[in-house]
Amino acid sequence: MDGAHINWMISSIHEELLPKLQIQSVDPKNPVSVHFVPKPWRLVGTGNYAAVVYHPDYPDQVVKIYAPGRPGFEEEVEVYRRLGSHPSFSECLYASDGFLVLKRLHGVTLYDCVHLGLRIPQQVIKDIDQALDYARRRGLHPHDVHGRNVMMHKGRGLVVDVSDFLHEETCSKWNDLKRAYYWLYRPLLTPLRLRVPYYVLDIIRRSYRLWHSLASRYLGF
Ligand SMILES: Nc1ncnc2c1ncn2[C@@H]1O[C@H](COP(=O)(O)OP(=O)(O)O)[C@@H](O)[C@H]1O
Ligand SMILES: [Mg+2]
Repeated sequence: MDGAHINWMISSIHEELLPKLQIQSVDPKNPVSVHFVPKPWRLVGTGNYAAVVYHPDYPDQVVKIYAPGRPGFEEEVEVYRRLGSHPSFSECLYASDGFLVLKRLHGVTLYDCVHLGLRIPQQVIKDIDQALDYARRRGLHPHDVHGRNVMMHKGRGLVVDVSDFLHEETCSKWNDLKRAYYWLYRPLLTPLRLRVPYYVLDIIRRSYRLWHSLASRYLGF
């Protein structure tokens, strides 16, 4: 993206997007609520901190906007600075005032793959493992790597959300996801070609969180 284009995009973000966009973080443990996205911007996805949108004239970039009151914007900018350029990660092209312009990753989150019944090859898991090793070599701590934060594109793995990679405490989510992939997904879901409805995925997500908080409180891990 050349300088003129990015300037156009940034003025459009300030003049058309930010004044009208309505996002709210109702509960920090669940994705933000997006009440309104001004035309022609379109919603790409939501996370617990932010909403991600794109403009049809700039289909290779997305804008990630932090919900008011949600922390982490400066940290995410710093993580992208340390990551530099790597095929499994996005790149930050511009950041200010609680929003980041990121290279768009075209892909489907692994969470949506399970929902849609798309087969996830092992290469995807290996790519993500290698990407996380690369991040560690750059002095980062992969954190919060779960099914909505990783994607599959043309059979390769991508890491879409790096916002918590400065947090030093260990996070077992990626190892747990890998365990579920090798013990449940490959032997059971793949041969049956099962699609898992969103409400079941949501029950799994909530049970996982409950199990984790109980295990850390009562069993010490
Ligand atoms: N660079 C990107 N390219 C394409 N889609 C993205 C990109 N960044 C985020 N998304 C989409 O937006 C969703 C929310 O973004 P994410 O960075 O995970 O937000 P949060 O930090 O709030 O969890 C992701 O699950 C993904 O679907
Ligand atoms: Mg996320």
